[in-house]
Amino acid sequence: MASVPSLASTVQQRLAEGLSAALPEAGSADPLLRRSDRADFQANGILALAKQLKGNPRELATKVVGAIPENDVLKEIEVSGPGFLNITVSDAAIVRTLAARAADDRLGVPFNEAAGTTVIDYAQPNVAKEMHVGHLRSAVIGAAMVEILEFTGEKVVRRHHIGDWGTQFGMLIQYLIEHPHELDHRSEDADAETSGAEAMSNLNRLYKASRALFDSDEEFKTRARARVVDLQAGDEETLALWQRFVDESKIYFYSVFEKLDMDIQDPDIVGESGYNDMLQETCRILEESGVAVRSEGALCVFFDDIKGPDGNPVPLIVQKSDGGFGYAATDLSAIRDRVQNLKASTLLYVVDARQSLHFKMVFETARRAGWLNDEVKAHQLAFGTVLGKDGKPFKTREGETVRLQDLLDEAIDRATAVVREKAGKVGLAEQEIVENGRYVGIGAVKYADLSTSAVRDYKFDLDQMVSLNGDTSVYLQYAYARIQSIKRNVPDAGPVAHPELELAPAERALGLHLDQFGETLAEVAAEYAPHKLAAYLYQLASHLTTFYDQCSVRHAETQEQKENRLFLVDLTGRTLQRGMALLGIRTPERL
Ligand code: ARG
Repeated sequence: MASVPSLASTVQQRLAEGLSAALPEAGSADPLLRRSDRADFQANGILALAKQLKGNPRELATKVVGAIPENDVLKEIEVSGPGFLNITVSDAAIVRTLAARAADDRLGVPFNEAAGTTVIDYAQPNVAKEMHVGHLRSAVIGAAMVEILEFTGEKVVRRHHIGDWGTQFGMLIQYLIEHPHELDHRSEDADAETSGAEAMSNLNRLYKASRALFDSDEEFKTRARARVVDLQAGDEETLALWQRFVDESKIYFYSVFEKLDMDIQDPDIVGESGYNDMLQETCRILEESGVAVRSEGALCVFFDDIKGPDGNPVPLIVQKSDGGFGYAATDLSAIRDRVQNLKASTLLYVVDARQSLHFKMVFETARRAGWLNDEVKAHQLAFGTVLGKDGKPFKTREGETVRLQDLLDEAIDRATAVVREKAGKVGLAEQEIVENGRYVGIGAVKYADLSTSAVRDYKFDLDQMVSLNGDTSVYLQYAYARIQSIKRNVPDAGPVAHPELELAPAERALGLHLDQFGETLAEVAAEYAPHKLAAYLYQLASHLTTFYDQCSVRHAETQEQKENRLFLVDLTGRTLQRGMALLGIRTPERL
């Protein structure tokens, strides 16, 4: 495993050397390098420097160029406009750098030297409730961030903060006590998916029935409330029944996660109930330190800048006046656990943007309490709402939440149809069509979720998602499969880098883009912005398409050129595959 410096960083370094040799008085000035359409790179840093040194920018630029030591990376540097540098790197440098990447398992991507431990809170559905599209977003975005962060060397601890506690369990448990067989319906030898669906439909029925009773029968309501007290007091029978709800829900959750091709592990599911034993102490610490104060019997934290519509301050309620604890007390306790026991340096929350105020208050409270500080940071990776085609929050025509299972099934069905249409040409067997249909369908849903900036709302449009043209995962998957087919169809050559060859413009463009993989990942990890990885991969596939149009592999002019083109194609395939895997999307070999 050897990390490979990108051409951008090599060029940056050569320029910096030229700068400090020509203008020692400038100190270590940044040449401000970026990719450019005019040449390979452009540097604008000398403009600001000239101002600072009161010199003529073009003259200074010429002096800097003259001072750059002899090297075999820079092919041409031209002073242009008011004093920019247009920089072209040599073809040989491109191919050599890519060859170094190809020789490395990690494609030369360096580990982050400042890596720490991130506890990531994602995929957190609620017990006894149907999962909805918001839970899908958290799971998809969170899983991608897990992979990306781990790839950059971060230690990642996963936490699925499921909603498994609260007053509604009093009602559910009491109902189950009075109707003991309500959770028993289960068909023999059902597969995971059917069991999941059955579990959810049982829970749904029970939820509705107990809710109806709770709303209509005062005596039941009283018994349900008493049951909450038993639950919180740790009464064994009550806890055992609560556990049944959790277990039943997990059967359902796992069936959805499995369909999503997502690996969720039991020990990482630490729901709200997991912090129950800490709540009392969290409140005590907050009250004794003065971070929280009693107000009308409730334990509250106030903020100068958070006010309601009436202008009165809106507090974070840590403990209600009846002694009950809510969502905030749990999250504050979870922070203590994650910082003190899990030794996190970063807490990342992949949660709906509509909970941003909650997290803002929780994080600020934790800072005042000293749990968060300069060494331990918290960040909400907030995501927007999933909208229907009509631009309104995604609901069925009847106004109900869309069942996730149905949605995923539909995506798979449509994708399978797309795959089937092309299957004849590729010679796919039925089993491959079915498998690829799943990969394409689930990939489409994930990619749609990941390819726009998380915080923006996005439209759930299956037609668009499985389209072969445009910014979709299918387009990327086809690009990958096409690479494999080219490799199969050119049996008389293998991928070999030839730095001595001259490159065509499309080869250079593809090569330079391939070289940016590591830098892109570093940015994606630092900014928690998986959409930038999606954009990078889409551009990669687009460069590949242009390359195919302009540079034939099969009909290359020489054997060396053929090998070199295969080398570029092969590295593109590996980069696509790695990048897609980080997003949780499969790349079938044949499509
Ligand atoms: N279960 C919550 C919901 O469905 C999300 C939990 C988010 N995580 C947290 N630590 N509060 O909205």
